[in-house]
Amino acid sequence: MSATIISGKTISAKLRQAVKAEADALREQGIVPGLAVILVGNDPASAIYVRNKEKACAECGFYSEKYELPAETSQAELLELIEKLNQDPKVHGILCQLPLPEQISEDAVIRAIRPEKDVDAFHPANVGHIMIGDHDFVPCTPAGVMAMLDECGIDPAGKHCVVVGRSNIVGKPMSMLLLHRHGTVTVCHSRTKDLADVCRSADILVAAVGRAGFITADMVKEGAVVIDVGINRTPEGKVVGDVCTAEVAEKAAWLTPVPGGVGVMTITMLMQNTLKAAKKQAAG
Ligand code: GUN
Repeated sequence: MSATIISGKTISAKLRQAVKAEADALREQGIVPGLAVILVGNDPASAIYVRNKEKACAECGFYSEKYELPAETSQAELLELIEKLNQDPKVHGILCQLPLPEQISEDAVIRAIRPEKDVDAFHPANVGHIMIGDHDFVPCTPAGVMAMLDECGIDPAGKHCVVVGRSNIVGKPMSMLLLHRHGTVTVCHSRTKDLADVCRSADILVAAVGRAGFITADMVKEGAVVIDVGINRTPEGKVVGDVCTAEVAEKAAWLTPVPGGVGVMTITMLMQNTLKAAKKQAAG
């Protein structure tokens, strides 16, 4: 089998057009969706993600503010900025890029963002809504994966969905979204026994490990859907996923590329969440 490549770029272009059309209509009513993005320190990968988020805002006709704070920023200073943005009616969504320097508690920052403006869906209140299934905001990366599956007509219902990775950002919410769509979900992690066997039983395999080349062809069932969430940089500076793409493409039915796969969808979902936040806040 030779896998069909699921292009995050193509799907994103279509979805961003729809977001832009809605934003254009909102502007007629005097509402401009606004996103504030905060970057603390000088992690080069984070700087690229933040720049891409700003570009996406411009593409969708949103208002955006970018805050680049020095690595030695104190937690109190960051919380003060977040509180100012919480009160600012132009800003409907607030995103503080993770990871943060060690003197700042990620948990404190996540909890400081008003749940209505938490377009990452990291606040415990939003995490709870995801668990129950009555959420407004879906974390952007898992939401991007679901949108890719939907665009390709892949229904998780009744399928064995294996999520490799249990992070709060990807693995845990991903497993919940698949469960809500009636998938039979297994979450694997560093202590999982017989990981390759579990992966081989997956109809839908989501790799969110953060290790280049982690998923090899022998871990993939013939005809599986393989979603590569990893964004890893090789020593040569090349961006690669968690999946050995060339060999897995010979076995899988569907495969997402890196770059041009889940990463670009993540930002598109951020635009959808910001639009949703703007509409909800405008409605009071
Ligand atoms: N760092 C890596 N992924 C993300 C994300 O989705 N949101 C934020 N805020 N930081 C991240």
